Amino acid sequence: MPPKFFITRQIPSIGIQRLKSAGEVFINPLDRELTAAELITMGRDSDGWLTMLTDPITSEVLQSCPKLRAVSNLAVGFNNIDVAACTARKVGVSNTPGVLTDATAELTFALLMAVARRIVEADKFVRSGKWTSWGPMLFSGVAVTGKTLGIIGAGRIGSRVAEFGRGFRMNILYFSRNPNPDLERSCSAKRVELNELLTRSDFVSLHTPLTDQTRHIIGAAQLALMQSHAILINTSRGPLIDEAALFAALKEKRIRAAGLDVYEFEPRITPGLTDLDNVVVLPHIGSATEETRNRMAAMAADDLIAMVAGQRPQNPVNPGLW
Ligand code: GLV
Ligand code: GLV
Repeated sequence: MPPKFFITRQIPSIGIQRLKSAGEVFINPLDRELTAAELITMGRDSDGWLTMLTDPITSEVLQSCPKLRAVSNLAVGFNNIDVAACTARKVGVSNTPGVLTDATAELTFALLMAVARRIVEADKFVRSGKWTSWGPMLFSGVAVTGKTLGIIGAGRIGSRVAEFGRGFRMNILYFSRNPNPDLERSCSAKRVELNELLTRSDFVSLHTPLTDQTRHIIGAAQLALMQSHAILINTSRGPLIDEAALFAALKEKRIRAAGLDVYEFEPRITPGLTDLDNVVVLPHIGSATEETRNRMAAMAADDLIAMVAGQRPQNPVNPGLW
């Protein structure tokens, strides 16, 4: 019997084709994210699931799908998956690290520049026909070159963002559980405590996975440490920031501005946040380039095929299973 694969959303065809060459494929026909109940109904008969970061892979879902042997997540983050429950049931889990590092770092810098130079506000101004003449004060932003960039989480993506920052001659500070000697060498980055990073940085950017330890790593107390001209960027996971506290800080201009690609309760956004001019809001598109999404789809498919065949995937999240 060929294996059965369930893909929880339409993905680039390269991933679908690879799975089709290895077994039977069922794709969620609805162009939206699925609830746990829908995942169970659509996926119950499948041996392996290719999942999105929006799919809740809970122990309840696993219990209802005893046939399931492998979950391949189309993301580097896997906070949507109860990995301990998967391991307990011998369900293999994989993710897609590395292939999205450049795309996510590029989007981080795009947001940083957009916020610093007020690109979105200025674009809206021109489109709405309000532009009547050049002005010495018109859309004055803040400089990026030579400023201090504080990076929270010094993994692949954080390190790439630091390299981009060096291109703008920024001074790099980082906060991370472990020292990163490569980053210190390549970017003259200095490892500091979180509080020092927040008080000294002109730009703060989050690049850490979401875990119980990092949830709300930026709350009211941390925002209060930031300088009033500081800019906060988040392209990692929304719940790293206490969004209500961020909204208050932005509204009262206790920090200058923020650039967000992710939200605490996405796709829901704190009411009022999108009415503020000092925030740029994107719909979680960090890894959304054609090149990267193709690579992610191929990688996730290959790993799913391997796991369902009982083999160790290229990117195991619970490597103890093999
Ligand atoms: C995207 O958010 C990812 O984790 O890959
Ligand atoms: C994710 O790939 C990271 O290490 O930042």
